[in-house]
Amino acid sequence: MDKIVIEGGRPLAGTVRASGAKNAALPLMAATLVAPGSHVLHNVPDLRDTRTMLRLLETLGASCERQGTIVRIDTTSLTGAEAPYELVKTMRASVLVLGPLIARTGYARVSLPGGCAIGARPIDYHLRGFEQLGVITTLAEGYVEASVDTVLKGNVVYFDTPSVTGTENLITASVLCRGTTVIKNAAREPEVGNLIDMLNAMGADIEGRDSDRLTVRGVERLRPVETEIIPDRIEVGTFLIAAAATGGEVTVAGCVPGHLPALIEKLRSTGVDIGETGDSLTVRRKDAGAGGRPALKSVDIRTMPYPGFPTDLQAQFMALMTQADGVSVIHETIFENRFMHVAELRRLGAEIKVDGSAAIVTGRRREELCGAPVMATDLRASASLVIAGLSVPGTTEISRVYHLERGYENMVDKLRELGAAIRTEREENQAGAT
Ligand code: EPU
Repeated sequence: MDKIVIEGGRPLAGTVRASGAKNAALPLMAATLVAPGSHVLHNVPDLRDTRTMLRLLETLGASCERQGTIVRIDTTSLTGAEAPYELVKTMRASVLVLGPLIARTGYARVSLPGGCAIGARPIDYHLRGFEQLGVITTLAEGYVEASVDTVLKGNVVYFDTPSVTGTENLITASVLCRGTTVIKNAAREPEVGNLIDMLNAMGADIEGRDSDRLTVRGVERLRPVETEIIPDRIEVGTFLIAAAATGGEVTVAGCVPGHLPALIEKLRSTGVDIGETGDSLTVRRKDAGAGGRPALKSVDIRTMPYPGFPTDLQAQFMALMTQADGVSVIHETIFENRFMHVAELRRLGAEIKVDGSAAIVTGRRREELCGAPVMATDLRASASLVIAGLSVPGTTEISRVYHLERGYENMVDKLRELGAAIRTEREENQAGAT
């Protein structure tokens, strides 16, 4: 896929089904490395990132097979311990193999991820945590080498700020430790909970799921598992916002409404109706307000670790606020450079000023905004531009949408089924992935 072309201004309507969560599938796939045997994962989304993770696991000696959404990973015999630069540069989450490899073999070598389009994104918390368990880490030739000194021993690990993949890496590194590891200020994202459930089903002893204090009592060995990836709350949120931005009525089925507390609250504050029934969410936007003003009210958001407003929905929510009534202040507190979409949204006529970690969005009427050629800079920025393109009149062409393929399963088809006029076209001069 190269370029997405959208004829905007049509309300979305209908039902769409959530896919499995990218950010749960990646750590769970990596965690199969910790126990030899044949693992089965259900509801694995078919994305560029999950394909990259399968390639990485194969590089390490696992044999992998996909049938639809079911992925079988046999980790009986590992033959490698290195995540090469070629894979890490296309997917930072490759660092998730560090924890399981350290636990199982006592050694791992992983290319150090560089900065990316949304920030510097260091992995110092991961490394400091490993060191506290008795791992020696060194950096040479762009690779982190981690080797267990004598034996992995439980310890207390404290994160300065909750890190999602840091927590995941520390959990997997410590499940086979001697003694008990306590992770303080741990990330509470549902994806971390999904990993804990999987490891406990494998025979691990992890307590404190959904809290910021996790206790991992080391066990002798783990067994292979058959488990399921949770629905993708960020994909669900993206569809809810898209529905709110375009008007109309959309039901997202197969989701966990409880995983989106902050977004649901904020969407309701904009005046949008959200109905919850079991595993589905329905969003309805009322028609234009009095005097032709937009029916949407501006609201402020501040991105925070879970259960706060997810940084992975910030760009999409900003697209919605470009057509709300009033001024919305959007604070990005997780990543220092996650406003790359602002300049592109401005090309559609949006009025947005950036002041440090805040973006100040002055809503405009939908008729004052208009489609234009824009460029995607990262995964969630791409989703934001798709939402903007769907909701404003005229044609929007989004180039470099290969970013979208990293994290959204069949997004274009799913949107088309909801009535969007959206298509993909080949584009000349495609640039490399970032
Ligand atoms: N941080 C450090 N040092 C570390 C680790 C993190 O300073 O060693 C900082 C980060 O720079 C950031 C904050 O801590 O300021 C939190 O980052 P976190 O470690 O939680 O991010 P991550 O684990 O690298 C995951 C998701 C991201 C998502 C963030 C925040 C996966 C594979 N990735 O990244 O997803 O934005 O948590 O929720 O789970 C995406 O899907 O588009 C995406 C970027």
